Amino acid sequence: MSNAKSLIVGNWKMNGLRADLKEIEAVADSIQQNSFNGDVVICPPATLAALAVDKTVQSPLKIGGQDCHAKEAGAFTGDISAEKWKDLGAEYVIVGHSERREYYREDDKAVRAKSAAVIRAGLTPIICIGESLEERRAGNTLAVVSEQISGSIPEEAKSSPIAIGYEPIWAIGTGLTPSIEEIAEAHSLIRAELEKLLGTSGSTTPILYGGSMKPSNAKEILAIDDVDGGLVGGASLKSKDFLEIIASF
Ligand code: 13P
Repeated sequence: MSNAKSLIVGNWKMNGLRADLKEIEAVADSIQQNSFNGDVVICPPATLAALAVDKTVQSPLKIGGQDCHAKEAGAFTGDISAEKWKDLGAEYVIVGHSERREYYREDDKAVRAKSAAVIRAGLTPIICIGESLEERRAGNTLAVVSEQISGSIPEEAKSSPIAIGYEPIWAIGTGLTPSIEEIAEAHSLIRAELEKLLGTSGSTTPILYGGSMKPSNAKEILAIDDVDGGLVGGASLKSKDFLEIIASF
């Protein structure tokens, strides 16, 4: 465990209908009763976000966005700015998720601009990085991760909080996870890079692991040095699983 704040984030991706808001309410009720030393965040699809904020405003559960536009406002059909997330009552916004990098061709420069926008709005960006299977097989994991860190983290992060989501792409939604040693190695490299880039605030930046985290493996992964929390996809959709992950921390 590092000096960073603990953070568990559920990324619902393009899943969930109004009927599923009960899962968010169940998480909110539970963490209100069994206080968690850190932040618990759910990032539902944008269609549910305002409803989720209304339902959880009295609880410690925080609602976040899954992406944002780098500009504050304007003619960008379909997009949501960081300022809009702020106005809604969100506190975190995920940026640079590998699915955005892959399907929408977002590169480090775009991710950096979005991260700066989230900070500008007064929210915390959860900046995602992670290697593909080919990159890991070629022995390039650490090089890829270092390059993504220096390319995706904006200058503003020296004086404002950010979080990092380390998500090996091949572990997302596949049921596969790196070994404990591999996760430890990646997180300790990320910590060293953050300290190089951000100075002392690099030692208190939460580094989350993501990729097939579930109740059966969360305890072991979350016990690793420099794993300050989790970025959970599939297992965050059901409150029972997500709460088990939170409880195992
Ligand atoms: P899974 O937990 O479904 O593998 O997804 C991880 C992820 O991409 C969270 O952002």
